[in-house]
Amino acid sequence: MANRKYIVGNWKMNGMQAQLSDIAHIAAIAAKHGGVDVGICPPITLITAAANANPDFAIGAQDCHFNEKGAHTGNVSAAMLKEAGATYTILGHSERRADHGESDADVKAKAEAVHAAGLGAIICVGETEEERDAGQAVAVVTGQLAGSFPDSANADWLTIAYEPVWAIGTGRVPEISDVEEMHGAIRAKLGELMGEGSDAVRIQYGGSMNGGNAAELLAVPNVDGGLVGGASLNAEKFGPIIEAAEAT
Ligand code: 13P
Repeated sequence: MANRKYIVGNWKMNGMQAQLSDIAHIAAIAAKHGGVDVGICPPITLITAAANANPDFAIGAQDCHFNEKGAHTGNVSAAMLKEAGATYTILGHSERRADHGESDADVKAKAEAVHAAGLGAIICVGETEEERDAGQAVAVVTGQLAGSFPDSANADWLTIAYEPVWAIGTGRVPEISDVEEMHGAIRAKLGELMGEGSDAVRIQYGGSMNGGNAAELLAVPNVDGGLVGGASLNAEKFGPIIEAAEAT
């Protein structure tokens, strides 16, 4: 049986107090589409206000440190995110891996910390264009997945997001057959890593998803949702993706 679709907006470093109304509009649309799970991950500065204003809507974070507390200037812990009002966080986004040198081992440690704090996690994996051109995409992505995979993995709290780096923010999306191949490979790897229960772990696609291509992408086998950047910033763009998810 297909998994319930899960659509999350990653606002990255976008959003001031003035954009809280966009989250409220998106939450209102999500409330009308009860067949799909929807959330927004705004910058940390908006988490508490967004969570307080939309108590029935899933507000998440974009990263956290793997330690509980201590001398880590500029970082926040999973417990801090939870107290702020987040119920889950994105981990290992390619922008974190590239800009902050995050390794698979770092992402795994973060996932364990997030679970210990009682939050959900969306672990991101994805190949670069050079890796795809070299025929290495599946090997790279399944390798990242194995290296980032927490020992305590369980579909109740863990989601995987496949985000080809070259498709993020570029308007380019992979061939549908390539999406199907990659999501199938991730599903098989989850089976190896987890055994029983792995089919229930949701695998999102991310990278230039929008209202025009969401229906086709979300209909691909083993695509259980989307992790959406630019097209999640307002209800006009994000609403059609939520509608497409409910229709598939
Ligand atoms: P875009 O949807 O803007 O390509 O971003 C995807 C992404 O990185 C979501 O995490």
